[in-house]
Amino acid sequence: MREKIQAYLEEINASSPASAEEAEQFRIRFLGRKGIIPALFETFKSLPPEEKKELGKSLNQLKQAASEKVNQLKNGTSRSAAQGTPSLDLSLPGEPSPVGGRHPISLVEKEITGIFSRLGFSVAEGPEIEDDWHNFSALNFPAEHPARDMQDTFFIRRDPNDTSADMALRTHTSSVQVRLMEQGKPPFRAIMPGRVYRNEAISARAHCFFHQVEGLYVDEGVSFADLKQTLFYFVQELFGVGTKVRFRPSYFPFTEPSAEMDISCSICQGDGCAMCKHTGWVEILGCGMVDPNVLSNCGVDPARYTGFAFGMGIERITNLKYQVKDLRLFSENDVRFLAQFQSEII
Ligand code: PHE
Repeated sequence: MREKIQAYLEEINASSPASAEEAEQFRIRFLGRKGIIPALFETFKSLPPEEKKELGKSLNQLKQAASEKVNQLKNGTSRSAAQGTPSLDLSLPGEPSPVGGRHPISLVEKEITGIFSRLGFSVAEGPEIEDDWHNFSALNFPAEHPARDMQDTFFIRRDPNDTSADMALRTHTSSVQVRLMEQGKPPFRAIMPGRVYRNEAISARAHCFFHQVEGLYVDEGVSFADLKQTLFYFVQELFGVGTKVRFRPSYFPFTEPSAEMDISCSICQGDGCAMCKHTGWVEILGCGMVDPNVLSNCGVDPARYTGFAFGMGIERITNLKYQVKDLRLFSENDVRFLAQFQSEII
């Protein structure tokens, strides 16, 4: 019996049926109900125990070799059986490949920069790690001035022994306005989108970083009327024609006079809702005429030039447009949240 098994094993290894029919014949010959291998197992049953011990293993190997060969043949011949018909079925529906979308903050930023670029504003960028001069001093925040506390700042030490802490994560993109004016000559007409940082406890309503778009327009004869008309136009474009605006006096060290601008609530159209705390108005930005001190700090002659500046938080605008109730959603990268904006690819 041992020789038989050996001979069959060699036969199996050597055989290579060319067609599906031959492969099937092979299967029937070795593994079919009346085939060689079941017959060998039948004989095996009646062998004395010592021989069983000796032959059991090789018999199992033989069966395995035959089954493997059959599988191989099936795969091989099914491919060749398909010969003559195209191996690619073009009528099958395609596999969908998931497409990413823009982050809602990027969507709104793009929309804002688009509106201002139509008004002739270019886009300026600057570093997120700033020195004291660009983030504060040039903007008319004298050292020790209480206005510095308006923006809870993350200070950075260049080395552990340095106590001057004159570097910080920028608290607003007004720092880019300073850089722009220092580097060029008026007129300036640009917006500054970017990420800013404030030392706030993270909650649904506050975060330690957020995004701003600030704007600056400096030229001869720029007035508060220009500021109002520019921002009025911006709001009609962003929230729809008919959106009302109102300006309330405010204070910023770098603008004089300063104002905060409210718009009629885009969610309840001014009727009163939770978003506008039932006042019908929501604040969206700070603005004002650039303080003459700031102009001269940046090398612009305040006797000749005037300008306006404004700054808004993109998260706030996004909340108004999409009614996102929790600021943390913007930075958690939860695809269930982000996927809702996929149709808005622009
Ligand atoms: N820099 C101000 C802020 O971050 C916004 C602002 C910009 C206000 C320009 C007035 C003029 O709060």
